[in-house]
Amino acid sequence: MCGIVGYVGPRQSRDILISGLARLEYRGYDSAGIAIIDADGGLGMRKRAGKLQVLRDDLAGHPLADGTTGIGHTRWATHGGPTDANAHPHLADDDKLAVIHNGIIENFATLKAELVSEGYEFRSETDTEVAAIMIGREYAASGDLVAAFRATVARFEGAYTLLAMHQDHPGLVVAARRNSPLVIGLGEGENFLGSDVAAFVEHTRNALAIGQDEIVAITPAGVEVTDFRGEPVEVEPFEVTWDSAAAEKGGWSSFMAKEVSEEPEAVANTVLGRIRDGLVDIPELDGLDDVFTGINRIVVIACGTAAYAGQTGKYALEQWARVPVDVELAHEFRYRDPVIGPDTLVVSISQSGETMDTLMAVKYARERGARTLSICNTQGATIPRESDAIVYTHAGPEVAVASTKAFVAQITALYLLALHVARVRGSLPHAEIARHVRELEAVPGKISRILEREQERTTQLARWMADTRSVLFLGRHVGYPIALEGALKLKEISYIHAEGFAAGELKHGPIALIEPGQPVFVIVPSPRESALLHDKVVSNIQEIRARGARVIVIAEEGDAAVLPFADEVLRIPLAGPLFEPLLAVVPLHIFAMGLATAKGLDVDQPRNLAKSVTVE
Ligand code: M6R
Repeated sequence: MCGIVGYVGPRQSRDILISGLARLEYRGYDSAGIAIIDADGGLGMRKRAGKLQVLRDDLAGHPLADGTTGIGHTRWATHGGPTDANAHPHLADDDKLAVIHNGIIENFATLKAELVSEGYEFRSETDTEVAAIMIGREYAASGDLVAAFRATVARFEGAYTLLAMHQDHPGLVVAARRNSPLVIGLGEGENFLGSDVAAFVEHTRNALAIGQDEIVAITPAGVEVTDFRGEPVEVEPFEVTWDSAAAEKGGWSSFMAKEVSEEPEAVANTVLGRIRDGLVDIPELDGLDDVFTGINRIVVIACGTAAYAGQTGKYALEQWARVPVDVELAHEFRYRDPVIGPDTLVVSISQSGETMDTLMAVKYARERGARTLSICNTQGATIPRESDAIVYTHAGPEVAVASTKAFVAQITALYLLALHVARVRGSLPHAEIARHVRELEAVPGKISRILEREQERTTQLARWMADTRSVLFLGRHVGYPIALEGALKLKEISYIHAEGFAAGELKHGPIALIEPGQPVFVIVPSPRESALLHDKVVSNIQEIRARGARVIVIAEEGDAAVLPFADEVLRIPLAGPLFEPLLAVVPLHIFAMGLATAKGLDVDQPRNLAKSVTVE
């Protein structure tokens, strides 16, 4: 939540900041602002409520003097509504110091009361302004911006990335980080700071990941990183594996449309390099065989769509690796004193690698002695760095707030993990593993077929349903988390009431929701592979049809049994039961996108949301 960018170097910073913010806007889009130290040594600042375009238009009408040191921010409001006054940067020290912030300073009220009693006045309702005034106060005493940071952050509780610059020090941007993301981009005679590498990837792919509780000072000549006590620390360099074009919309109408079209590659790239002699061998997990043979339980923690990927992966982990699996929402996990220890493997799943709820759950699990493994899509992110092992998904940058290609990549990574652990534990014959590997390798082609054959019809269906007020989704077994995902996607971007249910649960209550015309999507398992489940789902369809539901079925090609009971049938290619979710979800993603588009909504930046949820 909130995107942060900083620049020092020889170039004029305004365009660098604005293009960095454009790439980070998915992190929050309530308001945006920049501050620049201009050529005369003055500090200029402009900030506006609304999307980045509002700021752009303002700057076009009333340009800010440019300069070679600057910071920029795009906000997802926490303390104080999305107004010009609450937008960042916040100024202090007679408007010579500018500060931007991502996160929450939890003890801000106490600190604010202290500052008010000292006579400081506030121009916003934010916790950030407290930080700005405190850094300004310390700076006024020492004249040293890094020391001012050190003294100030010692008093903060909560999670934050803070960036500041002072007009007395052109060519210097200072930042501090605790439990909130920050990466450095290393250029030639210029350096960058960003909430993630998207902020600077068009300028450099050489990056440094900043650890917890560290302060960094960037100048055109270099980078200095110290801990909160002032001791120098080693930082980990990494090279960004994707280029800036990967984070561009290209010719697509939205990032979401582009990212849905990339679902086949997301699966294929996640499998790449992890198959040896027809079996799964994930190189990143070398040396961990003892962990996999020693565990007696897996707990998967994640939020939102990533949690639905976890629920899907549970079936594979239990069936193939024969380890009991619990899937928990990360924000519930650590508040209920869970039973975990050294024989528990806690697998976190996060596209961004920054979700605060998930990060805190991972830390909690480690403190309790559990082994931790992170499935993550973002290099240099915090959650993988806080985990014992990492399996990256290779979906490429996901910009649209609604997660799509990352979801199929997460399921793929979980299936790979299940087959890797199954091999190590000897719980599945090699021939079986090899058969599942072949199935997995066939998935990208099958998703492409759905995109070719069903995209238009599904979009048309979504257009017809643009006035619908409620949609239900039903699934059984692995179809159940897919029903939940279909409902979440629709809620998230089209603002329509949607619910996902386990089909068997219907008769225990939700069937009361069915009235004539109620649209219900039903994910039907394969009749070849799971005849029993298939027939039960067909019975469920009859139950809702009898009560007037309008039934849209997602069924495999050739399944004729559903035809008499379906108003619409969307087809997916034949696949083994556990591989159906990777296919069935594709029409649901297309449907949600089609319906939101038909309603004229911004599918990439839905209201009230942000891509990366870095507050608890
Ligand atoms: O970055 P993460 O995967 O940790 O994000 C978790 C959820 O916030 C995320 O999946 C959210 O539910 C999506 N916007 C759903 O499309």
